[in-house]
Amino acid sequence: MEVFQRSHRLFWSYSPKSVREASDSVIRNFLFHVFPAYVTKKSLSLFTTFWLGTITWVLFVILTITGVILMFLYVPSVERAYQSMKDIEFVVSYGPILRSMHRMAAHGMVVFAFLHLMRVWYTKAYRSPRNYGSSRQMNWLIGLVLLVLTLALSYTGYLLPWDQLAYWALVIGVNVAKSAPVVGDKMCELLVGGTEIGQNTLLRFYILHCVVLPILLVIVGAYHMWRIRRDGGLAATDRLTLLQENQQVELNPSPTKTYTLLGIKEGTTLSVRSSSLPDSLLVHANPELTTRLLIAILLTHVVILAVSLCVTAPLEAPANPLFPPNPAKAPWYFLWLQELIADTTLKAGNYVVNGGFVGGILIPTIALAGLAVWPFLDKSPDGAIGVWFHRARWPQNVIFSIGVIIVIGLIILAAYFRGPFWNLYWFNEPWPQVPKLY
Ligand code: HEM
Repeated sequence: MEVFQRSHRLFWSYSPKSVREASDSVIRNFLFHVFPAYVTKKSLSLFTTFWLGTITWVLFVILTITGVILMFLYVPSVERAYQSMKDIEFVVSYGPILRSMHRMAAHGMVVFAFLHLMRVWYTKAYRSPRNYGSSRQMNWLIGLVLLVLTLALSYTGYLLPWDQLAYWALVIGVNVAKSAPVVGDKMCELLVGGTEIGQNTLLRFYILHCVVLPILLVIVGAYHMWRIRRDGGLAATDRLTLLQENQQVELNPSPTKTYTLLGIKEGTTLSVRSSSLPDSLLVHANPELTTRLLIAILLTHVVILAVSLCVTAPLEAPANPLFPPNPAKAPWYFLWLQELIADTTLKAGNYVVNGGFVGGILIPTIALAGLAVWPFLDKSPDGAIGVWFHRARWPQNVIFSIGVIIVIGLIILAAYFRGPFWNLYWFNEPWPQVPKLY
């Protein structure tokens, strides 16, 4: 695209004088050395990935920067946590915007990680061609771990303000965990730090949120990125290679040289050339990839800043274990589970179906396990790899889309149509006055 071709003049004046200089600038540069010297044009196209994985990373970086600053201001103590949030809101310079940026980036990371998963699904980018010598299926599994870590990171942060929203969202989570057979009680005790939600719980969630989960996410995320190189670049590149090789699928990656991030590169010199793709399909990683990356980073920051200026992060009344809000709702990304729990809690005479277990544990576990094994079961042709909505995959795409629509539908239902005692109300129907439950 014209705008991208000219973008390096707008954002960056670097333009290499020779092939050697372009390759050296990547390989010898500390920041750029993770990229290959060349990438395929196809990998850089907006419509190949929509840069969704990259944007997810940028959001994580924003979370880390704003999170570290917030750590200087927040006190993880039951007596002082809420007050420190109030100080951030009303006393600290730029405190509200800092908090909003952290909160919006957290929501954004959940949304973009899921959109990225959808992109990978609809382009069959979770598979390497048969006999290809690489296994992108493995990276799909690692991606699922990243998604779970992202949700855990967001949920543990939700508790920290120690307001009503946080406290009762945690109570819902603890009750769901309790309904797990055999390990339920022990798991709760471990998470809560005893039998009651209190100081131990807050400290555990604080350490999980600020130390354990971010470190795990960086380690697993780094492995995720390395696997892309190990698997020979993006799935779209496999397709190019397959087409180039006239559908010959015997393409074992070379053992002599690092496999590349966004394209297949092999060789032993600094200025490595592709073994299988013609030059017309390739461009220098620097500045073509690096400039686009810079634009993605800048735009993500600008959008998060703009949204944070318009939307304030909520802070309700201080946590009160004696006064449950009615209804108490989980964070939005877990609302579909809360709705499922309500819908599967059934009583017929003496017979009771435990919705906490069915809706909160069984159904999400089956959904996650189904996602995990699907790439290994998908028998559609290799020609579908790297292609959006390939015809041969329409039945699985329809089933996946129905699943996504159900989850989104349940979230909307729980967020906007559930009122006191989890009864159904129209969107703007006034809720009845409910007696206080204490
Ligand atoms: C914290 C969350 C995640 C981050 C930061 C992340 C990052 C990335 C990035 C930067 C890429 C390169 C291509 C692109 O931008 O789309 C990528 C590719 C990939 N990701 Fe993720 N990812 C995350 C979660 C996931 C999830 C949830 C899945 C699926 C379960 C997944 C599966 C994959 C696969 C299979 C590829 C290779 C795609 C291809 O070859 O075209 N990732 N990831």
